[in-house]
Amino acid sequence: MRLIFLGPPGAGKGTQAQVLGERFGIVQISTGDLLRRHRAEGTELGKAAEGYMQRGELVPDELIIAMIERELDALGGRGFVMDGFPRTVAQAEALDASLARKGWALDRVILFRVPDDELVRRLSARWVNPRTGRVYNTITNPPRTAGIDDEDGGPLVQREDDRPETVARRLRVYAEQTLPVVEYYRARGLLTELDATRSVGEVTHELLHALRQERAAQ
Ligand code: AP5
Ligand code: MG
Repeated sequence: MRLIFLGPPGAGKGTQAQVLGERFGIVQISTGDLLRRHRAEGTELGKAAEGYMQRGELVPDELIIAMIERELDALGGRGFVMDGFPRTVAQAEALDASLARKGWALDRVILFRVPDDELVRRLSARWVNPRTGRVYNTITNPPRTAGIDDEDGGPLVQREDDRPETVARRLRVYAEQTLPVVEYYRARGLLTELDATRSVGEVTHELLHALRQERAAQ
């Protein structure tokens, strides 16, 4: 299975990618998580990405595309769900070229739809495990113990780019630079839109339903 999750910041891409990865044994490729790991490790890429991420802007395409190429090469034959990539039409075109070189096709692109006011509400209550990327929400999906990951007992933190002014910038960047990617995949007949305002469990249910329909149609 080869999937892409598209949608604005806070739509639940990371939450659902984690669920699907565990359920189907496919690899979750989250460009945001990868970049945060590079920053934590102080790599050249991490240093180059830092300012863009703090401002809520996109990291330049050539850096992201090179990073994705390395991830695709490491997959072997395993399937994947991409969460947070592609975010520009140039990235989508580069991905198409990489997949064509490998003889791989995308199965589906899922668009997570959530209104802006709900996105802001979700992001202000998000806590994450910086080591694994596992996501919680103090309102809708709290950990058993505040500030502690249920799975590995590690500390949870809030992301620096979840401050209200940075969230507003990220929403603008999404509308300007990533909405054209939605149309790119719609034109290719690959897009499935999902109402992602419902609970985490209900969204998972919808997602699995959409993927079953896709398989039945093949
Ligand atoms: P990235 O980390 O990808 O951030 P994002 O796209 O802004 O998305 P988020 O991670 O904020 O949201 P999400 O959809 O994953 O939601 P989540 O599941 O956490 O990117 C960060 C930065 O890296 C970018 O700004 C950019 O600088 C750079 N970058 C990354 N990729 C790049 C690229 N391809 N090109 C260039 N630059 C790139 O859920 C949000 C909250 O809601 C959580 O608290 C969760 O528990 C809760 N929640 C989830 N689902 C539900 C639900 N159904 N109901 C209620 N609450 C829910
Ligand atoms: Mg995410």
